[in-house]
Amino acid sequence: MDFSEKELLGQIDAARLPRHVAIIMDGNGRWAKLRGFKDRTRGHRAGIEAVRAATRTAAQLHLAALTLYAFSEENWSRPKYEISLLMSLLKRFLKEEIPELMENNIRLVASGRIHRLPPDCLKQLEETKTITAGNTGLILNLALSYGGRAEITDALAAILEESEQGKIKPQDISEELVSRHLYQPGLPDPDLIIRTSGEYRTSNFLLWQGAYAEYYFTDVLWPDFNKTVFLQALLDFQKRERRFGGIG
Ligand code: IPE
Ligand code: IPE
Ligand code: MG
Repeated sequence: MDFSEKELLGQIDAARLPRHVAIIMDGNGRWAKLRGFKDRTRGHRAGIEAVRAATRTAAQLHLAALTLYAFSEENWSRPKYEISLLMSLLKRFLKEEIPELMENNIRLVASGRIHRLPPDCLKQLEETKTITAGNTGLILNLALSYGGRAEITDALAAILEESEQGKIKPQDISEELVSRHLYQPGLPDPDLIIRTSGEYRTSNFLLWQGAYAEYYFTDVLWPDFNKTVFLQALLDFQKRERRFGGIG
């Protein structure tokens, strides 16, 4: 642990930590380009270490949940080569990470149209989910083939189906009922959403759940994200006054 990390950690107020942090992990391609690599996927490879750092930090601080935006519904429009590299990195991560997840009591779950993932990837995902299902610490939620609009659309379809089965009537429709039909209904809404790489947009991330999230933007490119950057975001969050429409 370097000095700045230790100092930042000392400033963290455990009582004012977010329960759920979500991260838009962006900037891998630019990171690779900046380093002179012709292949932007070098950035995806380097980004894995940052995923580990974020997960470790979240577990260490006893956050309830960490959602990582790893692959969007829209990312399927990328070149085939890049998609297949991302999928193989994902599969490897899901396998290699099991000991670390077990050691740190982390439960892995996923959000998104995961049936669109390649079968071998999906199989590994299900396996890692099953192995870690009994863990009671941090919930690591990977957003895979995830889109906020797709999620709300899928929730609508599920609600309509239950309505046709006579289980739901129009007067039963409430925000709470919609929330219960999202991909991970058990998770609290994100308190803090971090986006790296200096882009200021949601890119279709957690549209419903993020209604009152605090946003933190940093120019740091995802492969350079580390514990220090995470702690800086948390300290910034602790200074915010959340009013939820009230007057504070
Ligand atoms: C984020 O990095 C990773 C994914 C979206 C899968 P990018 O690949 O979007 O990197 P930039 O934004 O092009 O730098
Ligand atoms: C958002 O990043 C999706 C992920 C981080 C997985 P993108 O790089 O796909 O977003 P845009 O296209 O710049 O909005
Ligand atoms: Mg990007």
